[in-house]
Amino acid sequence: MAHQNIFPCIFFSILFCVFSTVAQGARTFNVKYYGAVANGRTDNRKAFLRAWMDACDQKGVSIVYIPKGVYMLGSVEFAGPCRGVTMFFMKGDLRAPRGAFLNVETWLGFRYVDNLIMKGGGTLDGQGQSAWPFNQCHKNNNCQTLPIVTPDYSPNTDGIKMGSSSNIRISYSKISTGDDCIAILSDTSNIDISNVYCGPGHGISIGSLGKYTNEKNVNGVSVRKCTLNGTDNGIRIKSWESPISITASNFLFQDIFMYNVRNPIIIDQTYCPHPPCNRQTASHVQIQDVTYRNIFGTSSSEIAVSMQCSKKFPCKNIVMTDIKFGHHGTKKSLKSYCSYVNGRFFGRQYPPPCF
Ligand SMILES: *[C@@H]1O[C@H](CO)[C@@H](O)[C@H](O)[C@H]1NC(C)=O
Repeated sequence: MAHQNIFPCIFFSILFCVFSTVAQGARTFNVKYYGAVANGRTDNRKAFLRAWMDACDQKGVSIVYIPKGVYMLGSVEFAGPCRGVTMFFMKGDLRAPRGAFLNVETWLGFRYVDNLIMKGGGTLDGQGQSAWPFNQCHKNNNCQTLPIVTPDYSPNTDGIKMGSSSNIRISYSKISTGDDCIAILSDTSNIDISNVYCGPGHGISIGSLGKYTNEKNVNGVSVRKCTLNGTDNGIRIKSWESPISITASNFLFQDIFMYNVRNPIIIDQTYCPHPPCNRQTASHVQIQDVTYRNIFGTSSSEIAVSMQCSKKFPCKNIVMTDIKFGHHGTKKSLKSYCSYVNGRFFGRQYPPPCF
């Protein structure tokens, strides 16, 4: 049945595109008209990819439209460069096949795309649980136990990770995961994150940076009106101790509420998650022009603000305005702790500033 319907549907989609272009000035590519079936079982990779390729090939604004329903989707990469602004409008839910990910790194990949918009209120269900039993740590003595600080137990699962990307907006999203909710890596610019709820997870991270020789600058990240609940880190910037020389600059963190977060505000330029690390030199990642404004909530550790910048390239122009934290669950006092930071502060500050 489904196959018989494909051709009339493609025909219809052309008509639909013509009408919607007239109606909204944006072209719509409905995955259903490319043969996608929302039964939660049929792998819809081909239909999604074909809709993507047609949308990507359009000038102006084009919309890959995913109507309500549950679509099973195997590992797939949506690649650019595209000719215009491409929107992934997701009313429906995308579901990964169970246990099919042992040999792939990414479930849904977006690469080489400028001006990507994702919205619509649908759900991404990676079916991650089906892979957890393959974690061999309980049998392997070399495995280090994960610090149990969040109620999550899904290892190494970033929510949204981006690199070599520009002009990305993420808003009104809830992300719960076992690793970073959002990670922003090398060669990114103009990233706008707002109204995101993160928890459980490891927070919102810029980096890690300075690990690979071909890395490029990160410039222009705004994180506003976000909530972090029960996360390991809040807002974090991290780089490795290496000679890789790039600049990470122009970041704004504003109106952020954190509840029971272990490291609410953190810059770590001595990042080494799995020691021993090959510490060649102080980090050569220059962090500068970072503003924290109206950041408040509760910290589960006594150090609510920690800035460990590079001895060789100290952090420059760090501006903090109205920072208000309390210790989660007790009346313990809080501290901030910093090294090699050049900054200024305004308004209320608790814990007291360390520069
Ligand atoms: C934080 O998360 C816990 C557990 O999911 C939930 O019960 C609580 O209401 C959340 N609190 C806030 C302030 O979002």
